Amino acid sequence: MSDDANRGLARGLTHYGDGGFALYLRRSFARSMGYSSALLERPTIGICHAASDLNNCHRHFPELIEAVKRGVLAAGGLPLAFPTISLGEVFLHPTSLMYRNLMAMDVEEMCRAQPLDAVVLVGGCDKTVPAQLMGASSANVPAIQLVAGPMMSARHEGERLGACTDCRRFWARFRGGEIDRAAIDRVETRLATTAGTCAVMGTASTMACIAEALGMTLPGTAAIPAVHADRLRAGEETGRRAVALAASRLTPDRIITRESVENALIVLLAIGGSTNAIIHLTAIAGRRGVRVSLARLNELSDATPVLVDLKPTGSHYMEDFFAAGGMSAVLHELRPLLHLDCITVTGETLADRLASPPEWVDRAVVRPLVQPFHPVGGLVALFGTLAPCGAILKRAAASSELFERTGRAIVFTSPSDLATRIDDPSLDVQPDDFLVMQNSGPTSGYGMPEAGYLPIPSRLARAGVKDMVRISDARMSGTAYGTVVLHVSPEAALGGPLALVRTGDRIRLSVRERRLDLEVDATELAKRKAQWRAPVPPERGYQRLYAERVLQAEDGCDFDFLRAAQRPGD
Ligand code: FES
Repeated sequence: MSDDANRGLARGLTHYGDGGFALYLRRSFARSMGYSSALLERPTIGICHAASDLNNCHRHFPELIEAVKRGVLAAGGLPLAFPTISLGEVFLHPTSLMYRNLMAMDVEEMCRAQPLDAVVLVGGCDKTVPAQLMGASSANVPAIQLVAGPMMSARHEGERLGACTDCRRFWARFRGGEIDRAAIDRVETRLATTAGTCAVMGTASTMACIAEALGMTLPGTAAIPAVHADRLRAGEETGRRAVALAASRLTPDRIITRESVENALIVLLAIGGSTNAIIHLTAIAGRRGVRVSLARLNELSDATPVLVDLKPTGSHYMEDFFAAGGMSAVLHELRPLLHLDCITVTGETLADRLASPPEWVDRAVVRPLVQPFHPVGGLVALFGTLAPCGAILKRAAASSELFERTGRAIVFTSPSDLATRIDDPSLDVQPDDFLVMQNSGPTSGYGMPEAGYLPIPSRLARAGVKDMVRISDARMSGTAYGTVVLHVSPEAALGGPLALVRTGDRIRLSVRERRLDLEVDATELAKRKAQWRAPVPPERGYQRLYAERVLQAEDGCDFDFLRAAQRPGD
């Protein structure tokens, strides 16, 4: 068949040994849905979405999907919405990260197996956008991302609240005895009050901005609030654009390149984005054979200032960011640092997009490049004898007085051990100790939980201690803050040096030197290593596959068999 004949419903016919029969059967069954012949001749535009009753962030998706369909129909396409698994961040055990790769496989296979000329990816909650970009990149179908948009903030006793930096702030106050049970119960009803993703620059908002920086969304759409009418207009316009993508066959391999990935890294640093986003961007880039190096992250971090004042590191919410100019304002400021020849889903280059300045920018939220909120980027990678393959610190959300320190390790052997002992009044712990948690990495069975933000022991919290050095192979929510060293690699469950730390050991942290070192001599470490035993892997199913094939944080926690071969020069 000609290429033209393979478009629309004729794309990728089911194997019956007779192509004509397969198409006739497919069209017959499509007709049972009431479509006219004319519509069945149109380009097919998949709307790959993650709506679910177990995902509060996506509760407006039915309306948003209708807006996308409107745009597709108006532009001459046939909209075909289909669900994939959804990942509601707080509804999954052990963690949503464990299922990101499963969702990415679902997206990839459904984008490839179904007769689709282009796909609109509709996601939002933390892991869904990375999963959709990973899957669509591997399938390499023309694709455009549409994000859920952030929640609006709410009010509580005269102050604004937004999930989930304020969730943690109030919980810390409750743990510290500052507020009582009745007060925390009232706060619970006011933290998340609209549809949409967390209201601050957490992982979901960071990934929305990264999707835009990569060129995979329409310009200016990352920060539109979920409940704003502009979000529906963005849906309609995204649908229209998907039809054009189907015609032009502009595929993700031309958009997600070494240069656009570097642009996304620069944006991640300039917005003080989530530590999780490093893992996700690495995984997305890996699907196109582009490697993200932590050493390069450090170089970029030293050259990229933080331009936005958003929680959890600043004081504003995502709705303020949108009103302030959003990603258009940030990208315009970052022009001297960006690769401007990168192509985007619009078919234009970044230079085309940024040819004229935004109409207005609120400088209380987005600063000029020459007058930033912080002179250097929000994230740094650390290396050393405790983290030979790297670890991450969000310095923008940390206490700089803790940056150059040697401390005594107080070790918890797992998240369960932490939960059991952290508030034990007999725990021997001082404010200048380093809290260390083991066995919370990708293969640990805990699914690399967002538990790296170890709570301050309640005895110390009640005494007014707000921050301590905390070290683990876990992750941290993008909405959290503190001097928290994460993603230590190799992880403890693989027998990395983190597994060998014992309470009382000395650990040296130097953010200036980008070092994290365990000050224990080699003979003693060899003795401990000889006694170390690997955890027993899960017996069956996806969790078994995950434990056996997941890569470490510096490789994006993707499955080894899903990454593309490295591009020459990367
Ligand atoms: Fe969905 Fe935060 S829980 S984005």
